[in-house]
Amino acid sequence: MKTSDGSKHTGLSNLSRKSIDVAKYYDDWASDYDKSLADWRYDAPDKIASIVRANLTQESRILDAGCGTGLCGKALVTSGFTSIDGIDVSQRSLEVARGTNAYENLRAIDMQALPLPISDDQYDGLACVGVLTYLTDSVGTLREFSRVVKPGGIVAITQRNDLFAERGFPDILSELVNEGVIARVHTSEPLSYLPENEEFTDQILVRYIDYTVV
Ligand SMILES: C[S@@+](CC[C@H](N)C(=O)[O-])C[C@H]1O[C@@H](n2cnc3c(N)ncnc32)[C@H](O)[C@@H]1O
Repeated sequence: MKTSDGSKHTGLSNLSRKSIDVAKYYDDWASDYDKSLADWRYDAPDKIASIVRANLTQESRILDAGCGTGLCGKALVTSGFTSIDGIDVSQRSLEVARGTNAYENLRAIDMQALPLPISDDQYDGLACVGVLTYLTDSVGTLREFSRVVKPGGIVAITQRNDLFAERGFPDILSELVNEGVIARVHTSEPLSYLPENEEFTDQILVRYIDYTVV
């Protein structure tokens, strides 16, 4: 399995962060993204959906930020959620996501362009899975996530372990706690991410982070 789609998706661990490049990359991949990720034994959407479910009732309104083809939306539906919106920069991924019927609303939004075009306190929960790699303004992005989620709601995100350190996530999370923007931060140990992808294997791991919006 390690070489499945390898020739087509080499360099995945070090893609351009420019939104126009990212959108093209994921547009070109959209039709067989789900198969690649299944081959690589990607289970982050299921894990994030479990974290969201452990913290919120099934009636909660959830934003899947960087929804891609809808893997996290499907996992949230399996967990019992029925009110899910998705945003992503890749139009073709959004088309695939639309076909899952997991989402109420899907919008093309470039999350590198802050502030997000979303009103304050719209959601009870926000899930962001496999996306923060591409979002270079970490503190700005996390502030925006807290703005669009109601006080008492939760944010559940993944961040690659190497970028967690490189981008100063421990300090950013502490800063937001000290400012009274977020509370009850839980950060997992580094866990397996794409175990059957030859660039990731057990070399690039992921952290699961969740917190309450104040
Ligand atoms: C690894 S995929 C993850 C998709 C989905 N969350 C999942 O778990 O399968 C990364 C997603 O982030 C989206 N993305 C990257 N940069 C973005 C940006 N600036 N604005 C919105 N979406 C972005 C990509 O288009 C892609 O769908």
